[in-house]
Order: sequence, then C-alpha cells, then structure tokens
Amino acid sequence: MSKTQKLQFVHTPHPSPLPADQRAELLKNPGFGRVFTDHMVTIRYHESKGWHDARVEPRAPIPMDPAAAVLHYAQEVFEGLKAYRTADGGATLFRPIENARRFQKSAERLAMPSLPEELFIESCDKLVSIDRAWIPDGDGSLYLRPFMFANEVFLGVKPSSDYLYLVIASSVGAYFKGDSPAVSVWVSDDYTRAAPGGTGAAKCGGNYAASLLAQAEATQHKCDQVVFLDAVERKWIEELGGMNVFFVFDDGSMVTPPLGGTILPGITRNSLLTLARDKGITVREERYSIQQWKADAASGKLREAFACGTAAVLTPIGTVRSKDGEFRIGNGSPGQRTEELKAALVGIQRGKAADPHKWIHRVF
Ligand code: PLP
Ligand code: COI
Repeated sequence: MSKTQKLQFVHTPHPSPLPADQRAELLKNPGFGRVFTDHMVTIRYHESKGWHDARVEPRAPIPMDPAAAVLHYAQEVFEGLKAYRTADGGATLFRPIENARRFQKSAERLAMPSLPEELFIESCDKLVSIDRAWIPDGDGSLYLRPFMFANEVFLGVKPSSDYLYLVIASSVGAYFKGDSPAVSVWVSDDYTRAAPGGTGAAKCGGNYAASLLAQAEATQHKCDQVVFLDAVERKWIEELGGMNVFFVFDDGSMVTPPLGGTILPGITRNSLLTLARDKGITVREERYSIQQWKADAASGKLREAFACGTAAVLTPIGTVRSKDGEFRIGNGSPGQRTEELKAALVGIQRGKAADPHKWIHRVF
C-alpha cells in the first residue's frame, strides 16, 4: 500500500520553547501523560503519493475537518515506547523495531497504509533528539506516542485515502499514582475487550474506548485496573485494560495468557518471556481461568501476579476484586520473582546491565 522514497524531514525549531527553569519544574513530578515536549513529528500519506511531507515542528493543535473519517469511524492506531537518558548524556530506545512492526500490523488490521519500519524509527529518533532536554533524570523517561489516523473528508464507510502520522512525546514518571507498591484489579463480568476475529491484537484507539466503561467500573470499586476475561467462555484471563499479566507459582514456574488474536502482543511481555527463559525459569503461554486464580491464591500455589507494559513496567497485583468478593496475593509487597525480573528488564533498558539480545537502540 505504501509508496516511499527516502523522505527528508523539514525541521522547524520552536520559536519560543519552554524556558529551562519552567521545564525543570514540570520534570520534578511529571506523573503520566500530562507534560508534553516542545515539538512533534508529522508525516502525511495520500494513496496517490504515498508517504510525504515529513516534518519536525513546534507541537501545536492540528486543524481538522469535522468530516475527517477518524472522527466518525475511528480508523486510528498508535504505539507507546520510552526513551531513556544514558549515563554519558545520550538517549536510547528499547526495541523500537518491535513497535514499528506492531504499528504495521495494527495498521493492516485497520485497513491503513504501512509505515516503513525505518521511517517509524527515524521519526522517533528525530523527536527524541530535538526534545532531549525533556528526558527526565532518575526513574523517569520520555514516553513516545506515535499514532496515525484517517484524515479523508468523506462520510462514506471505506478505508480513508488520506492519513496523518504523528509522534508526540511526554515526560513521564510512574504510571500508577498510589502509594502502595501493588495494584488492585477488578474482574469485569459484564464487559469484554475483544472477541475472536476482532481487533484485540491491534493497538487501535477503539479497543481503549471500548474498555473505558469497564475501567470506570474498576475505579468505582476502588481498583486501579480492569482485568478482562475472554469473550467466548467468559472464564479465561486475557489481559488488563492497558497491560499484559503474568502468574508466578510455588514451584517457580510462570504462566502468561497465550497470544490468540484477542490480546495485545506486548513487547514487555515478549521481553520477559525471553529474560525468564534465559534464567532457566519455566514459563508457559497457557490459558488460566479466573476460578483457578482464586483457588491457587487460596491454596498458596500462586505466589505472585504482576501486570507488565511499557507504561506500567512490572507492577505487582495485590488484590483481585469481583462481584463475588475479593482475594489477595502475597502480603502487599512486591514478590521476589517480580522484583528479579523487573531488575533484569530495567537494568537493560537503562543501560546498567549487559544487553545480550541487542534490544537497545542508541538515538544519539
Ligand atoms: N496490553 C494492552 C491492552 C496495552 O495497552 C499494553 C500497552 O501498550 C500492553 C498490553 C503492553 O504492551 P507493551 O509491553 O508493548 O507496552
Ligand atoms: C503503554 O504501556 O504504552 C500503553 O499504551 C498503555 C496505556 C495504559 C498507557
């Protein structure tokens, strides 16, 4: 679908970037997703021209026609990846090629054009490079949000002929705000996230729109996240609203739900499978039911459970609540395995440990 020649980015530096003292103030406690950098990347696509008009510009609102297709039929896909500051003052990305590939797969599922992998990575590199001052020190990072939406001005239901791809960046700290190191989750009985044949494996905005009511129900029940069960039997654990999930057992083995088209193939999930197997840990990609989760937590067979994703990194799950009541996992502090795998992953991401799988991409 895409026709591409090597694109040259046109750079327009921000005429009045945020002064350093104000930026430093924002970076002290950025939270997640509210502090944005000075610039953004835009690349246009038209079916007659392919990808064209690549720019790095001051971050600004985008003018849109009210009939733009995305506003009506939600043809939109996105990615999430982080840039880290290195000890020598440089910056790195973690496995951006995997985000580039997943972006292509998501686009294909939504009948959108394929953005070449090199262009995806170059667009991220350019933004990180120009907005390098926004990468927080310490535990923080710069969260990149590449996304693409249908921009044709037409109300007929068909794949758009026009798309806009953008990358914006947000200085972030921890995703979960609470003081507790472990999160609580709400098992949704009434709503499912994705059905076989649907868009569950794609990172498209529509999946998140469909998850919000269940997430609101989780919040009403004082839970941090929703857990979705499968749409067919309503018994198998799939994933959280914005994270994959792992279970750790008393014999040291681990389980994570298999990729079957209805859950997002998380890059953190994939990395943890590799790191666990490197350590000789048995990890099964296997279905695990909510009843079994409850029984194993009660018997002590289940020792730990954790959520994982780019935003959440590895976050222990401490309480599982549903209409039937609640059960707890562990004593509220992170389990040993969760800590060990988190340390291994974060060590590589932050350049503090060896990178045997060549996951680190140097930006500058
Ligand atoms: N599942 C969902 C629904 C997500 O939104 C995310 C976050 O991107 C993940 C899983 C984890 O994916 P990744 O590890 O690639 O960030
Ligand atoms: C991410 O981890 O990148 C996500 O997209 C999840 C979302 C909850 C922020």
